[in-house]
Amino acid sequence: MSLAGKNIVLGLTGGIACYKAAELARGLVKAGASCQVVMTEAARHFITPVTLQALSGKPVFTDQWDSRISNNMAHIDLSRHADALLIAPCSADFMRKLVHGAADDLLSTLCLARPANVPLLVAPAMNVEMWDNPATQRNAVQLKKDGITLLGPAAGDQACGETGLGRMLEPEQLLESLSAFFQPKLLAGKKVLITAGPTFEPIDPVRGITNLSSGKMGYAIARAAWAAGAEVTLVSGPTSLQAPLGVKVLPVTTALEMHDAVMTNVAGQQVFIAVAAVADWRVSDVSTQKIKKQDGQLPSLTFEQNPDILAEVAAMASPPYCVGFAAESENLLEHGAAKREKKRIPLLVGNIGHQTFGKDDNELVLFDAKGHKNLPRASKEILAGKLIEEIARRL
Ligand code: C5P
Repeated sequence: MSLAGKNIVLGLTGGIACYKAAELARGLVKAGASCQVVMTEAARHFITPVTLQALSGKPVFTDQWDSRISNNMAHIDLSRHADALLIAPCSADFMRKLVHGAADDLLSTLCLARPANVPLLVAPAMNVEMWDNPATQRNAVQLKKDGITLLGPAAGDQACGETGLGRMLEPEQLLESLSAFFQPKLLAGKKVLITAGPTFEPIDPVRGITNLSSGKMGYAIARAAWAAGAEVTLVSGPTSLQAPLGVKVLPVTTALEMHDAVMTNVAGQQVFIAVAAVADWRVSDVSTQKIKKQDGQLPSLTFEQNPDILAEVAAMASPPYCVGFAAESENLLEHGAAKREKKRIPLLVGNIGHQTFGKDDNELVLFDAKGHKNLPRASKEILAGKLIEEIARRL
């Protein structure tokens, strides 16, 4: 997913969330996008154009009568080369203006005068009562009817001290939403179930066994599937990662819990991607109390086999399209092809364990009935996007 090369007009309206728009502008530039900031008068009460100019690297426009554009038509010119207009934060009053086609300042005129093929996205930010007010709700419905994309708002603590819906999405989430907006919707209307992370099998209340897995690859695939328009459910073992935006996350600890969560949710899914590093065995007699260390004595543990979740889903009467992962330490080509056949799945993704665990990049080999194909080393984000394309092509 990338915003590189995109021309984004970032509009700021009045609200305390303007301070977050500074980071958003910085994030856009960092992602390789061009960021043209336009501010309303109310926005300038919260943050100065100087800050936004320094962060975006471009002069900021605030006034309809600004003469810096040669034809003196900033309200027309600024949108003509834009890939999208993003209003963040978008106040309740600015939502009202958009609904009514107002053109009484530069930003509203710019929105009204944008070409039909330039999308408008808004990130509402306001007090919970303002958001809940029927007038704002009516405006939100109308904006959607008009083809405007609403990003958020989120629920939580508000600057005014109240709690509820109305918080602007975080800059990271806005960047991710914007980038997802530009992705082709290859999985529109599809439901995708993903497992990710390790499982943890307890020995006693303070000890356990687990597998090496950060969950980064599985979470990146969940984000890519969501960006491709899928409805995504992510069954996740213990990780330190943030829940991906728009994805339903079901946290689990043990392989048995992961198995149950998958089996409860698998009906109606079109794709199942098993990325989790599931522990093959669990301790059969988990101690309810901490096993005390005694000099010269070693505890003996007995194990039993965990269910193979992927193989069980693949063996269903009409299974979803199943994708498995294999982390090998050697002979990837041989083991990968054999594992695909053994699990009876159409697609298996192989990688070398020590080259991927905990890292931000990876290289993959895809095994299907026709043979294998390499996806060369790249970030897990990029590989996840490519894998989703490969899956979509095969559905
Ligand atoms: O057999 P192996 O563990 O090497 O297979 C790896 C693949 O099978 C991965 O896709 C993993 O998520 C899945 N798997 C599973 N349940 C298990 C073990 C592995 O779903 N108990």
